[in-house]
Amino acid sequence: MAIEIRPTGGALGAEVLGVDLARPMDDAAFETVRRAWFDHLLLLFRDQDVPAARQAAFAARFGELDGVPGWRDKHAAGEENVLIISNVKQDGEALGVLGDGELEWHTDMSYIPVPPSVSMLHAREVPETGGDTHFMNMYAVYDALPADLAEAVRGRVLNHDSSYDSSNNLRPGAVEVTRACDAPGARHPLVRRHPETGRPSLYLGRRKNAWIVGLEDAESERLLDRLWAFAAQPEFAWFHRWRSGDVLMWDNRCTMHRRDSFDPATRRVMHRAQVKGEVPLAFEPEAA
Ligand code: OGA
Ligand code: MN
Repeated sequence: MAIEIRPTGGALGAEVLGVDLARPMDDAAFETVRRAWFDHLLLLFRDQDVPAARQAAFAARFGELDGVPGWRDKHAAGEENVLIISNVKQDGEALGVLGDGELEWHTDMSYIPVPPSVSMLHAREVPETGGDTHFMNMYAVYDALPADLAEAVRGRVLNHDSSYDSSNNLRPGAVEVTRACDAPGARHPLVRRHPETGRPSLYLGRRKNAWIVGLEDAESERLLDRLWAFAAQPEFAWFHRWRSGDVLMWDNRCTMHRRDSFDPATRRVMHRAQVKGEVPLAFEPEAA
């Protein structure tokens, strides 16, 4: 069956039809998928019955797998590179991570020096309602910035706080941050160049405790508030209503995502694979 790429019609994303991820993919098919991923930033494969080991093998075609250290007991059986994202408890013990609450806009693990390129979720069990995941196209945000904001971000570096997670909880071992400029984490260019497409995107990470290196606290807050308000416009986003069997993969270098909360009495179980990225590069516009 030929592969068909069907764009969502929204700000980003495409559905891929004609692929069974449980089976190995030949190089030509993989190249079609890889190109579609660069073009659409996010790919959806419906009705996939894919064991964790096969999901990991597919993710590994995009680069070296990243096992997300620290959560060693939350992995799918026998698959140290597949993490469980779930609210389900078994004998009082959480099966996975991230619970049932809202997750605020973020891009995965931008607070480390080498953030992941790909995140891939396989929906095993999903609630009837709630738990939708929203995505933002950060190329489009950058491209649409008004001239004064484009000028204000040029050449800037952002400190990405590592102390809080996207549910606003302090990470294990982290201490409370009182001034954003003192936050631990990693520093990356605010406008990054995608290593494959060469396109610039706004790299915001998370809002909490973000700091634009070198600016006074108040000035950094003002600029970040304006950037986040601009980015939060609906025209840059698209959301996904999950069905079990969905595999969704996104490019962390040029997208952000957030998740709606869902009823704690319902079950949501996702298998998650992640691929190591590269040190984010600054976008240097060609000299005019
Ligand atoms: C993630 C994440 C969102 C979701 O896995 O990185 O943010 O919908 N998950 O569970
Ligand atoms: Mn995430």
